[in-house]
Amino acid sequence: MPQKNNPVKLDGTLLAEKLTEAAKNEVEKLRKKNIVPHLEVILVGNDPASRIYVNNKTKACDKTGIFHNTNLLPENVSNEELLKFIQELNSKKEVNGILVQLPLPPQIKKDKIIDAIDPIKDVDGLHPYNMGLLMAGRQQWNPCTPGGILSIFKEHSIPLEGKNCVIIGRSDIVGKPLSLLLMQQNATVTICHSKTKNIPELLKKADIVCAAIGKAAFVKPDFIEQNTIIIDVGVNRISEEKLVDEIFGKEAPQKETFQKRGSCLCGDVHPQAYTKSSYYTPVPGGVGPMTIATLINNTITAAKVQKNSQ
Ligand code: GUN
Repeated sequence: MPQKNNPVKLDGTLLAEKLTEAAKNEVEKLRKKNIVPHLEVILVGNDPASRIYVNNKTKACDKTGIFHNTNLLPENVSNEELLKFIQELNSKKEVNGILVQLPLPPQIKKDKIIDAIDPIKDVDGLHPYNMGLLMAGRQQWNPCTPGGILSIFKEHSIPLEGKNCVIIGRSDIVGKPLSLLLMQQNATVTICHSKTKNIPELLKKADIVCAAIGKAAFVKPDFIEQNTIIIDVGVNRISEEKLVDEIFGKEAPQKETFQKRGSCLCGDVHPQAYTKSSYYTPVPGGVGPMTIATLINNTITAAKVQKNSQ
């Protein structure tokens, strides 16, 4: 008889609201000392998904009292123009955080842009100096998505020490920094990527699976052992009805969303795999809101650090 499971949904929206409320109190205290955390967001072009992400970030700033400004730059902006703009923001003392929303258009050299951000204002934690600090275990704040995942573990008292964590995806933004944060918590970490040969085998040995590859329903139910903890970082938009039916079934709420909007969201993990887990993060409403809550906290920390170094 198959074992019956009762997976716990790790609600990122709820936790992000709680952290945002605490951040609001923190900003109130800072404002009384004439410190107003200030975030500048740069959005290049008209990518609809990026627009939504940036909107959600600035909404969270509004909720907490963080001053923010969104700079919309044209799709065809040059490297030089973008670099000059970042240098201007670097030189403004009142600006505590600079976030360049990714991805950037193909003419832009992403690495050069990230390198140009003053590391003390790099609230995304993507500058190589900040990555180096993280590698050394001396980071001032955590990169947003991995930091948000760590906050989920902490909130639910999920122990990490000695756990086998398998991360799928080796990106600079999620996979690599997440592996370092988990190691800092004494977890044993395996990173899988596009050239890894035996992903299902490795996943079967995992206590915790973190999927961050951007492929809808990549992790199939038979890759997952009973009671694994699943952290699903993927946010994939599916606009093919056949795929929606295949993944979610014809009666699922996602099907209704698809019929209303012509698409729906799907994580990197197949929904049937969640049913075998002990805990899982849903998509949407899991890791996504926690990325934003971490950005808010990072901006507050950056404001404090910059005040103290004046
Ligand atoms: N695009 C998708 N996620 C992120 C993020 O965390 N930071 C930035 N800057 N861009 C993103």
